This record gives sequence, structure tokens and C-alpha cells, in this order.
Amino acid sequence: MNSTADAVLKSFTESFSSQPKIYFSPGRINLIGEHVDYNDGFVMPAAINKGVYYAIAENESNEIHFHAMDFNEWLSVGISHFKRMNGWKNYVLSVINEFLLLGCKIRGFNCVFAGDIPRGSGMSSSAAVEGGLAFALNEILHTGLNRVELALLCQRAEHNFPNVNCGIMDQFANMMGKQEQVLLLDCRSMQHQYLPLHMKGHKIVLLNSNVQHTLVSGEYNIRRQRCEEGLSILKSRLNIQSFRDITRVEDLQVYKSNMPEKVYNCCLYVIEEIARAKKAAVHLQEDNLIAFGKLMNATHEGLSKLYEVSCKELDFLVTLAGKNSNVIGSRLMGGGFGGCTINLVAVEGIDQFIKETSKAYQQHFNIIPEAYIVETADGTKEITITP
Ligand code: GLA
Repeated sequence: MNSTADAVLKSFTESFSSQPKIYFSPGRINLIGEHVDYNDGFVMPAAINKGVYYAIAENESNEIHFHAMDFNEWLSVGISHFKRMNGWKNYVLSVINEFLLLGCKIRGFNCVFAGDIPRGSGMSSSAAVEGGLAFALNEILHTGLNRVELALLCQRAEHNFPNVNCGIMDQFANMMGKQEQVLLLDCRSMQHQYLPLHMKGHKIVLLNSNVQHTLVSGEYNIRRQRCEEGLSILKSRLNIQSFRDITRVEDLQVYKSNMPEKVYNCCLYVIEEIARAKKAAVHLQEDNLIAFGKLMNATHEGLSKLYEVSCKELDFLVTLAGKNSNVIGSRLMGGGFGGCTINLVAVEGIDQFIKETSKAYQQHFNIIPEAYIVETADGTKEITITP
């Protein structure tokens, strides 16, 4: 069994007398469609076998007790009022607060959790923290929310106390992921389909730059504002609802002088990325991984030059990957400014790719990167631990 899950159960039974339920709440990867979930675009995420483990049981009191093992911190709060705090506390309290806002009556519970997603790696540990707790509370409180409703609740929770104005991708993948599948999610209608991942001799390798340059929420929210500004200018001139209604870049170019350069560049990136994600879905269905990988490379170029969410470390990793004939696609993944690159690598070349890239990266930046070969997984669920 997983050692993090074992540790969570052990810590729970050492601290509390009741027998908890155990939940696994996954992180996510995203193959393509970056920074377009909050722009009505298409994204292609999958839940992964790294995530957050929760042990939870009701405690027949009016108190909630948390133990965040990764931080070695405890938190005890009453059940009726939740206010903004800092760090991990914001994420769990904001989730409970969303249940309160729905009119649910909260009951006391004990909770221990820990994860195996490196923080700031771009695999969305925050959605995993939110999703595990929301799923468990939905069961404990008999709220009867379905998985999509839970994903939306978690997104609202992330907007609220942590103040990150995120899209729906991470929370959706966390709840709706399926092993061996990627999701193709239309973030405007929330319609989704599962696409089988035929990797044809390749694997998904994440390289963690082990840097995080900025407080993600600040720059993230700025990108979102730029897009909103650009869209409102375009909407006042064109008969469109969202970026996806612009299917030709020339239609945007006409308005270049009507907006600040950074706003224009964000609009251009979003329009191109929505088109790329749609094309990529076709390539995946046709098992054309080579063409898929080329689109990933183009996504990185856009994220770096137009959307400006890359950094020198990520650019370095992607450039090296581009020179390796075993890598068919490489780009930064998630919010950016550090974290991981996602790479499609031929199985026989994985060891060499990891070794050579890590060595060069270390020599250049004096930082040791980490590599993970990722497996897809099911969305948040209860698990059993056999002693
Ligand atoms: C973060 C957000 C997501 C998404 C990505 C970028 O992970 O939580 O909603 O916007 O960044 O694609």
C-alpha cells in the first residue's frame, strides 16, 4: 500500500480513538490547453497517481480538528464560523465555508491529511487538498452533491479564502479523472469526454524545475485580468461571446492598436491555444502523437513569449528537451513561473533524457531537478487500507 496513506492512518489512530475513512484525492497533469480554462477554452487534463490522502471521522462535538502532516501543524476551529487564515488552512477552511454557504449544517470531525505532490510543482496540490475534503464532507454530511457540483464548490473555495481566481480545470480533473484516460473538457459548457491515452511506446515524464518564482495568485490573477480586458474590447467591436468565437488570428490583429501590447499578446495566445487544443484532441483520437507533441511545443512558445508565464529555468528544460530525439513534445505545465515541464518521451530514451537533462540543469542553475514518470488515475475516491 502507499506509504503516505499508511502514515495518515497511523497518525489518525494515534491521535483519535475512532476509525476513520480514508480518501485519495489526486493531483493532475494537463496535456494541452493551458491558461484557457478561465477563457472558455478546451483543456485536456488527467488525474494522476500522486495526490493527497485524507483520514476523516466525525467526532460528535462542535469542533473540527485538522492535522496537516506535511507542515506538522494542527488547527482546531468551531463549526459555525470560518475566517480567512493563511497557507493550507485557507484551503480547508474555505471548503467547509462553501458547505456552510450552501446552507449545510456542519458537524464536528477529526481530519489528518498528507500528500505526495511536491508543492509548487504545477500538479495542483491545492485542488487535491480541496477535493479530498469536499468529497469526504459530502459523504459525512449527506449533502448529495455530484462530482461536477463538488468540483465547482472547490473552485469557489479556491476563489474565496485563498483568493486565487482559478479556472475549473484542476478541480474538474480531480473529481472526474479516470485511469488510462484524459479528459477533453469544454470549459464553457462543461461538456466533457474521455479520450483513451494510447501512448505508443511513450510515457509522460514531468521534470520539476524546483523553482517557484512568484506568488502564483498575484501573477495568475493579472493574466486573467488582461484576458478580461482584451475580451471586453473585442466584444464591444465584434459579435462574439468569448475568445473561441474568434477563429482567425487576422480578426484579432485588426484591433491590435486598440489595446495595450501585453493585453493583445494574451488574447493572441488564448485564441491560438484554444485552436491548438481542439486540433490536439483530433490528433490524439487519430493516434498521431508526433503531431500532438508539436502542438505542445508550440504551446510552450506561446506561454513563454506571449503569455509570459514561463521563466528561464522552464525555458532551459524545454529547450533541452527539444534537442533530444526521444522527446516528441515538451512544455511548461500548469500556472507557470516554475514547477514542472511535461514531456512525451519514448520509453527507451527516458533514463538518458532524465539523466542528461538533470545534469545540464544542475550545472547551469545549481538546482537539482526531480523527474516523475506519471500514471493516470481515478478521481477522488474512498480507498481501503489493508493492514
Ligand atoms: C492553474 C489553475 C487552473 C489553470 C492552470 C493554467 O493550475 O488552477 O485553473 O488555469 O493554472 O492552465
